[in-house]
Amino acid sequence: MTTAADVAPTTDDEPVLLDWLHTMREQHPVWQDRYGLWHVFRHADVEAITRDPATFSSDTSRLVPAGAPVRRGMLTQLDPPEHRALRHLVSAGFTPRTVAALEPRIRAVTGELLDAAGERFDLVDALAFPLPVIVIAELLGLPAEDRELFRTWADGLFSMQVDDPTDPELGPRVEAAMADITAYLAEGCRARRAHPREDLMSALVTAEVDGRRLDDEEAANFSMLLLLAGHITTTLLLGNAVRTFDEHPGVWDELRADPGLIPGAVEEVLRYRSPFTQVGRATLRSAEVSEVTIPADALVMPWLLSANRDARAHSEPDRFDIRRGLGGGAQLAFGHGVHFCLGAPLARLEARVALEALTARYRALPVDHDAVARAGGLRHYPRGILGTRNLPLRPVAA
Ligand code: HEM
Repeated sequence: MTTAADVAPTTDDEPVLLDWLHTMREQHPVWQDRYGLWHVFRHADVEAITRDPATFSSDTSRLVPAGAPVRRGMLTQLDPPEHRALRHLVSAGFTPRTVAALEPRIRAVTGELLDAAGERFDLVDALAFPLPVIVIAELLGLPAEDRELFRTWADGLFSMQVDDPTDPELGPRVEAAMADITAYLAEGCRARRAHPREDLMSALVTAEVDGRRLDDEEAANFSMLLLLAGHITTTLLLGNAVRTFDEHPGVWDELRADPGLIPGAVEEVLRYRSPFTQVGRATLRSAEVSEVTIPADALVMPWLLSANRDARAHSEPDRFDIRRGLGGGAQLAFGHGVHFCLGAPLARLEARVALEALTARYRALPVDHDAVARAGGLRHYPRGILGTRNLPLRPVAA
């Protein structure tokens, strides 16, 4: 492909998308699509943009109708100094200690899910979807029975990703999709303010930093962010890991022989198949990026997936290598700068524990290609996120 299409390819045809990203990195490192969005592809530029919130604001709501329903407490949409204050407050309930303490529970839930999975199973249904949602729901203090509700909500919102975020139809649709979740979570927050329990939602409504507390709306919105941001992304990471290992013979045996390689393998999967392909920013003033001037009040889409495949930052970027090293910050799948993923330690912990359990249980874990064919192929998410909704497997017990 030599010329730019007038809109980015979707994520459901990964080879086409990766090929296009490669062309864009080399020939059009900063490129404006049909809808006026500025796409940025090189690692150094993506890093520079996400490090500069004074120019590249996370509050895209003034330019994107779909952002309008995004309300107070939505950490991802705030700029410093408001962002710093809120992040400080929520971090008080979401500490590395709280996360590390979850390890035994994550291990137990993984074991229960795999015990129930049967001889042949679909990784997404059996483990990759339920594990992260059970963990976040338990952390927040929400009843596990409601997890099908969370699935419907999250799936609905992610399916709504479109090429043109400036579409005026989008705002009301997202608003409607979020109304039920917000009402459900606001009720949970109110109940905990009256009678605090031992859970993260109670910590959120009672945490106090510099004399400030979250109100119910902020706490509910932040809980929603955790449910959405911490859920499908981790599902995709687990699916992407097993699918990528299947494509690279020998990796499974190596991980079984030395589980100490698992954290490095997780980092490499995040680089190679970044679940969250892009982030969004809105310029507060004009800016020069790779010698192109992006005007003020423009929507900018830095591509994390592209940055992670940039040969300027990673040698032989299209080679999957679990011994590449732990990233040293160069791997951008969790973002960069002040908005660096708050849940990264939890996502890494869940992926490590799940892969430790899978490699201990199964001598081999190949994709069941006959079942994939019968299902009409792997069902990829179409936009914004990279990964599949199904992954049938043919496990071989150890
Ligand atoms: C593999 C899994 C995950 C990936 C790839 C991922 C990716 C990201 C990325 C790229 C950002 C930055 C967005 C931006 O700069 O605009 C982010 C932010 C965030 N993530 Fe994650 N995430 C994952 C898992 C989680 C989990 C498990 C949680 C929580 C339970 C979580 C909670 C958050 C929150 C709260 C933010 C906002 C931080 C801020 O704005 O300061 N994420 N994530």
